Amino acid sequence: MKGRQIAFFLTLHSNLSGFAEAYYYNDNLSQVLLQKEKEKNRELVIWCTTSILEQEKCEKLAKADAKYIFRNKGLFGDDYREIGCKRAFDTEDCMIWVDQGEATLLALDAGEVYIAGRYHSLVPIAQELYGNGEPYQYSVAVVKKGSLLSVQPSTGLHGLRGAKACFPGVGALAGWVMPVHILMQEGGLKITDCNNHIKSAVDYFGDSCAPNSLKDIYNPIGDNPDKLCKLCSGGAGIRCTLADPYAGYEGALKCLVANNSGDIAFVRDTTIQHALLSHKILGGVSEDSFELICRDGSRAPVTSWEKCNWGRIPADAVVTSSAASQDQRKRYQNLLQKLVQLYGEPNPSNKNPNNTFGQQNRDQYGNPFSSTERDSYDTYDPYRRNRFNYDEKQDNDPNSSTERDSYDTYDPYRRNRFNYDEKQDNDPNRVSTLAPFQTRLDRSGQPIELPFQLFVSNETTDLLLQDATINFRMLNEEEQASKHILNNKYVGDQAEKAVLGVRACPLKRAILCVTSDPEMDKCIKMRIALKAAVLSPTLSCWRGHSARHCERAVAEGSADFTVLDAADMLHAAYKHRLVPFMQEVYTSGESWYYAVAVAKEQDPDTDLTYLRGKNTCHTGIGTAAGWIYPLAYLLSNGWIRPYGCDGAHAAAQYFSKSCAPGALSTEYVDSATVPHDNLCHLCHGASFRRCRRDASEPYYGHVGALRCMVEGGGDVAFARHSAPAEVSGGRRREWWARDLLPDDLQLLCPDGTRAKMHEYEHCNLGKVPGAVLMGRANHTELDTYSNLMIYAQQLYGAATSDEFSFSMFFSQPPYADLIFSDAAVRLKPLPHSKRSAEMIAGPALLRAARIVSCDAPQASYYVAPDPEFLSHSYRTYIMGHVLAITLFMVVLMQ
Ligand SMILES: *[C@@H]1O[C@H](CO)[C@@H](O)[C@H](O)[C@H]1NC(C)=O
Ligand SMILES: *[C@@H]1O[C@H](CO)[C@@H](O)[C@H](O)[C@H]1NC(C)=O
Ligand SMILES: *[C@@H]1O[C@H](CO)[C@@H](O)[C@H](O)[C@H]1NC(C)=O
Ligand SMILES: *[C@@H]1O[C@H](CO)[C@@H](O)[C@H](O)[C@H]1NC(C)=O
Ligand SMILES: *[C@@H]1O[C@H](CO)[C@@H](O)[C@H](O)[C@H]1NC(C)=O
Ligand SMILES: *[C@@H]1O[C@H](CO)[C@@H](O)[C@H](O)[C@H]1NC(C)=O
Repeated sequence: MKGRQIAFFLTLHSNLSGFAEAYYYNDNLSQVLLQKEKEKNRELVIWCTTSILEQEKCEKLAKADAKYIFRNKGLFGDDYREIGCKRAFDTEDCMIWVDQGEATLLALDAGEVYIAGRYHSLVPIAQELYGNGEPYQYSVAVVKKGSLLSVQPSTGLHGLRGAKACFPGVGALAGWVMPVHILMQEGGLKITDCNNHIKSAVDYFGDSCAPNSLKDIYNPIGDNPDKLCKLCSGGAGIRCTLADPYAGYEGALKCLVANNSGDIAFVRDTTIQHALLSHKILGGVSEDSFELICRDGSRAPVTSWEKCNWGRIPADAVVTSSAASQDQRKRYQNLLQKLVQLYGEPNPSNKNPNNTFGQQNRDQYGNPFSSTERDSYDTYDPYRRNRFNYDEKQDNDPNSSTERDSYDTYDPYRRNRFNYDEKQDNDPNRVSTLAPFQTRLDRSGQPIELPFQLFVSNETTDLLLQDATINFRMLNEEEQASKHILNNKYVGDQAEKAVLGVRACPLKRAILCVTSDPEMDKCIKMRIALKAAVLSPTLSCWRGHSARHCERAVAEGSADFTVLDAADMLHAAYKHRLVPFMQEVYTSGESWYYAVAVAKEQDPDTDLTYLRGKNTCHTGIGTAAGWIYPLAYLLSNGWIRPYGCDGAHAAAQYFSKSCAPGALSTEYVDSATVPHDNLCHLCHGASFRRCRRDASEPYYGHVGALRCMVEGGGDVAFARHSAPAEVSGGRRREWWARDLLPDDLQLLCPDGTRAKMHEYEHCNLGKVPGAVLMGRANHTELDTYSNLMIYAQQLYGAATSDEFSFSMFFSQPPYADLIFSDAAVRLKPLPHSKRSAEMIAGPALLRAARIVSCDAPQASYYVAPDPEFLSHSYRTYIMGHVLAITLFMVVLMQ
């Protein structure tokens, strides 16, 4: 009999390997049985802790229990487990440990439960119950009385813009997710970055303390400003982490209380109860110096959280690894249940605003209510405030528990009374009805002093579990998911909406217009890659027929953005009012390249100053480096006879044969002039692809132009300065490039001399602005696409020729420069004030374009309507016109 009882206890242990024999009765039989039992259930339950104090509490739990346990033999059933304590740096490390099996349990804020489920596959197994047994609490905003007067019922929460805020930590449901989401809806907090809501908050708040705002998972590309760390107070390595003195709910209040610090702290009602109203934590501050800001901008006393809150928040939950079997989870639940029964005396600081402070609703056994008997009230109904008043019967007589089993009369076979929850667990309408803490009495009827209090945290609050906890709600199998914690009948779906809402993107899709099948293939790969990285908005691909077609598609809204050569940019800006918002940056670190003319070393007769009758290769008709710059050079120096601004006509007359992709298309050549067939004679594409100005023509683009010269009969190729190096020296494996040596290619200089291919700085036709991404003139939209591309290149910008991984600046041979240039290393976002094609083009390209193309705008370019910038550009526009008209008049008068 005795042995059996002994076998039924739980050992709590701080030392993972040892066993505190010293504490046990010198009872050999029990020792033997104990050892046997221990072997049978050899399985550690390791509680993950995140601070010294928490670790101390955990160890104390173990030690205290070691002394106590023998007197409570029989209480624990088959649930004997050795408990260990293991300290990690923060809860995220704990999540990793639990996921990897190095720890077993920890309690998390409901917002962290979401993170734990999404990134570390942890599952909740039990939820804390507060007050009278509710699995929820409230999110509240605390300010110093009479401060933040910008927030008034008339202005609502908009007055919070610029406030110095104290948050417990990014990700905390009541202290971050809920307020940020509400401010997005009601306070004017704009989503400025779909993939990083920290950035949006940075733009809204003043200097604040939001621990973890620089941590990797909230700072995907490492460029978060430290504005949300400015108020934090930790030292190096600690500052702005969850170990910061101002981290956590209690820390957020400390941040508010500290001088010259926060204006507002986002905490929970339980924080007010335990950190503020208890008068033990904040060093003598009185609750009278604080007030709550309600969701409508009004104010209320700090105890009015039921009326003045920012939403009902699901209670914290205990999580474990999803790898734990249902049996194991059940045992962990039983363990928690026993801990409450043994050590879970409710914290004396628990307060219920509608009861006398310091007292609790207790049942006839002197125990706090579990909500068993009141389920009908517990379904979420924000208007039924009375649910807390239904039962005025209270019995606060500590002696009233005498009827309960005392240690001496305890009958181990009546353990069933603690298991009645099993039946009721199946009833979906109930908060689990575990037997709560029970005061035990000794022989003389005196309550046995507890060696350990689970819900009391020495010198601080909420160690291991929230101090406000009175019991647990055990989750059945279907409920063991973070989704259930966030969205259930006690809290409704607003918490889940907030968690998803702060990560939401107002734009659902970003449609990229591409111009060929190979580009379409690359775009789809990119779409899949971005989707895998869970980036927002979703990238979609739209197949246009040509660059001009894409310009129209973007202008009309069939697509959202496209990548254009600098000369095409001018066309898109002039004809369709598209606006550049990102530009390619090359290995040089610059966002421009030189236009060069390339010839073969073994052909010394080709001279840039005399190309009459020569065969020429161009990247594409109307492109900056391959067409505009060389023709502008030839025309402006008088080498070629001009035909007005019709560069195509001039070239067709002067050159013998060429490949100038696009030359047969009316989109690029004035339809009134004769078709210039010879401008396509050198081109190589089969059937309808011949001379197309896209990747389907093999001689299209910078690499195509060189190929045209090397294998297609061209004497000179016009391309970017890096193109000769890109195709020679074995850099490309296609047969035409395989044996090409760097010295086989030479640059033709404007002065008629030649230079080696690396001497482009002294031998070029001018600087060409890099290709740009263009969209409609809406900064909100453009910022969103720009951010998407920034994240994309952070993940997929590295050059790799691994055919299984996606790389933005790589094109599968035989293709080159699909969508983005292969010579690019990244995309540079353009600030709002630089989103002007005219600015990006610069005077050289503008002048060259006017010489070569009648399409080129002769006047001003459209600038995205940036409020400040517009006035400036409008002025120059007006001034330009005034000047032009004046000149015109002067000419007339002469
Ligand atoms: C208990 O076991 C120890 C050896 O482990 C032995 O020396 C001692 O006499 C035993 N005591 C009793 C009461 O059997
Ligand atoms: C804040 O400053 C006041 C006086 O300036 C001082 O009395 C008070 O102790 C300070 N409080 C804290 C938390 O530093
Ligand atoms: C508190 O109880 C009173 C009646 O006893 C009721 O009028 C009031 O609405 C209750 N307040 C809350 C917040 O439940
Ligand atoms: C509780 O019991 C003790 C001793 O049994 C007694 O002195 C005390 O008055 C009782 N308290 C109440 C509230 O009945
Ligand atoms: C609280 O902690 C302090 C220092 O860690 C210790 O001196 C004190 O005894 C503890 N108090 C309790 C009640 O455990
Ligand atoms: C910019 O785009 C957003 C999102 O599509 C839209 O809500 C907004 O009205 C647009 N603004 C202007 C000025 O067109």
